[in-house]
Amino acid sequence: MDVKTKLIRSGKYTTCPKGIEYKTLNPPIYKGSTILLSYKDFKTSKPPFHGNYYGTLGNPAQLALEDAICELENGYMTRACPSGLNAITTTFMALCSQGDHILVCDNVYAPTMNFCNNVLSKYGVKVDALPPDTGKNITDYIKPNTRLIFLESPGSNTFEIQDIEPIIKIAKEKNIVTIIDNTWATPLFFRPLDYGIDISIMSGTKYIGGHSDILLGTITTNEAYSNVISKFYETVEIFVNSEDCYLGLRGLRTLNVRLKYQEEAALNIARWLEAQDIIETVIHPALPSHPQHELFNKYFTESSGVFGFTFKENYNEEQIEKFMNSLEFFPVGLSWGGVNSLIKSEVYTKRKYLSEKFKNKTVFRLSIGLEDVEDLKNDLLNGFKALS
Ligand SMILES: Cc1ncc(COP(=O)(O)O)c(C=O)c1O
Repeated sequence: MDVKTKLIRSGKYTTCPKGIEYKTLNPPIYKGSTILLSYKDFKTSKPPFHGNYYGTLGNPAQLALEDAICELENGYMTRACPSGLNAITTTFMALCSQGDHILVCDNVYAPTMNFCNNVLSKYGVKVDALPPDTGKNITDYIKPNTRLIFLESPGSNTFEIQDIEPIIKIAKEKNIVTIIDNTWATPLFFRPLDYGIDISIMSGTKYIGGHSDILLGTITTNEAYSNVISKFYETVEIFVNSEDCYLGLRGLRTLNVRLKYQEEAALNIARWLEAQDIIETVIHPALPSHPQHELFNKYFTESSGVFGFTFKENYNEEQIEKFMNSLEFFPVGLSWGGVNSLIKSEVYTKRKYLSEKFKNKTVFRLSIGLEDVEDLKNDLLNGFKALS
């Protein structure tokens, strides 16, 4: 064999070299665009969801992650996407056609609403916002051409809860697809498909990955919508690299212990914040002070580690900057659900339906990580001192 051929062929094992058995607890990371096939398979392969004839159809780590999420969400099919927003936009595009009307809860992750208003509308889809506390009044918003209802409960910034049971009942009667962004609760604390939601989406970037080092999204469907989603998914060629799927799977292994700690730490800090003079409102659905606490108890078994608060005083930008910069354990950053605590602030100006108490107010959002609770409280106290 010539050296040129050797360079190409040597060391390319598809099983372990030298017959050594090598079994790890976790799935291997495969890199591959080309999948080797027998001529017969090459001529006949037609996979239902998971193909094996090209790298884009899902590497083993992706398929393993999809199976795991599907089991947790109690779904029929899960597909992994390169980000949470991609999972959301993929789902919209797979389901919407020109002339459709869609209802999107006003408290969704802002880029979700941006996509609907700026992209879907270009293709002739009419978008209307739904009040974030919608329940059986959903009928007031439905039109004859309403195709889907997109919910986020609790909203990951202002934490309103939708009463999903009546929404699902009415949607089913009218043959409208229901979709929910389940990133905040994860299937550990809320399983939307058990209630009859058709599609549950998560940004795996948050709690599933858990360490702020991957971008990932998942779409989990019931049987009825599995075909339309999988066909679109494969047609536009969405897939996730092996490493990120592997890290997503690894994140799953510790999800329970991380979330339990983050839940308790967040509740502890939220209750403590409620007692601080400087604070006006703590926005945490698991607290009795939350306006929809009863709905929270109806649907969610437990709460995760992200919540908000507002100050009594309307501080100016300079003061807010001072507050944020004085924090050591709450760096300013987007995203959430990792092991490091984070803070961000926002004044909601684009919402159609915003609670009076948040109008012209800076709403701060904390994502509680795995640090010590007293350290986090002391850090916030230092921040409050910087404001006074
Ligand atoms: C509730 C929610 N859904 C979806 C997303 C989008 O996820 P990703 O950052 O993975 O695109 C985010 C991101 O912050 C989010 O908060």
